Parts: sequence; C-alpha cells; structure tokens
Amino acid sequence: MSVKKIAILFSGSGTNLENLLEKLHLKEFGKIKIEVSATICNNPNAKGIQRSQKYGIEPTIIDHKEYKTREEFDAKLLDEIRKSGAELTVLAGFMRFLTPVFTKNIKAINLHPSLLPLFKGGHAIEDSFKSNMKVGGITVHYVNEELDGGTIIAQKCFEKTDNMSMKKYEKNIHKLEYELLPEVVISLLTK
Ligand code: GAR
Repeated sequence: MSVKKIAILFSGSGTNLENLLEKLHLKEFGKIKIEVSATICNNPNAKGIQRSQKYGIEPTIIDHKEYKTREEFDAKLLDEIRKSGAELTVLAGFMRFLTPVFTKNIKAINLHPSLLPLFKGGHAIEDSFKSNMKVGGITVHYVNEELDGGTIIAQKCFEKTDNMSMKKYEKNIHKLEYELLPEVVISLLTK
C-alpha cells in the first residue's frame, strides 16, 4: 500500500475542503491510501479552519497581508507544501493569484465554478448565472500562471432552466463540485 500525500489550499467557507477530507483523508483506493498532509489558508478568519480542525488537521495560516510581494507569499506556500511531502496540491476555493514562483514548482489543480474558458475570475457563479447560456457547470484544471487558464482535466454541467433561482443554480454548482473534485484527485493519484 503506498501513501499518496496531498495538500489542500482554501480561503473561505471551506465546504470543498471538508468534502475532500470526508471522502479522501486516510481512505484507501485500490493500492493507494490518500493522506491530506497539509491544509493551508491565506485568511485567518476563514470558516474552513474549523472544518479542517474537525478532521484533526491544524491548518497552516499564511496571511497574504503579511507579505510585501506575491512572490514572497508564494515562496512561503511552496516551502510549506514541500515540507508536507504532498505530491499534488488542490486549490479548493483558494482565492489568490499565483506567480511562477508557485506554478513552476508545484503540481496543482484548481476547482472553478464555471465551464472554462468562459467566466474566469472571482465572480464566475454570478456571471454565468446572468449569462444567456442554457447550461451551468464546473471545471477542474491544472494551475499555471494564467488565471483559470491551465489545461482542463474534467468538467461537469447541468441544465439551467428559465425559472431557476440563483440559489438553486449555486446549489447545483456545489453539488457537482462535491462529486467531481474528489473523483479527479483519485484518478490523478491512481494513474
Ligand atoms: C467554490 O465554488 C469554488 O469553485 C470557488 O470558490 C468556492 C469555494 O467554496 N472557486 C473559485 O471561484 C476560484 N476561482 P468553499 O470554500 O465552500 O469550498
């Protein structure tokens, strides 16, 4: 049995973080066992901190406001991820731009709440809801230096009906996120 370590980065509510911990942490998949060896957060007030503690993992807080440049912040992230021994880093609601200091050194995937390349950026749910598209969806992609621009690994979508409320739309997005992100992590680690 080989243990595959992952790091999870988050910034806020942390429901995807919790979903990953629930479904993957110390669970076996064929010949591998997944261990979440670090959870890292840039926001000292994030709700996700308690979610991580619930699973016995004390998150490392790296407050971006304490760093003069993005590169210095990224170097600290890099350091923590390397120390954790994680071979894959998962951005689950991590709301920071990353520089090549991070992207050139870390194998990372990101969850984004739209069908990329449409609706990049921090307002993807609202922007895609307001658009005239008849489907909504989500993407998991590799992280590179272009915001939400790395190679797409997997996507899922649902039908956006005419009378669908924003609340229902958002709920559908999160439901798909909770299915797809763990599936992708397992598939990358068992390849
Ligand atoms: C998720 O919907 C995720 O797709 C989105 O933030 C939310 C985090 O929720 N990420 C982005 O918008 C990245 N550009 P959570 O903190 O409850 O997991």
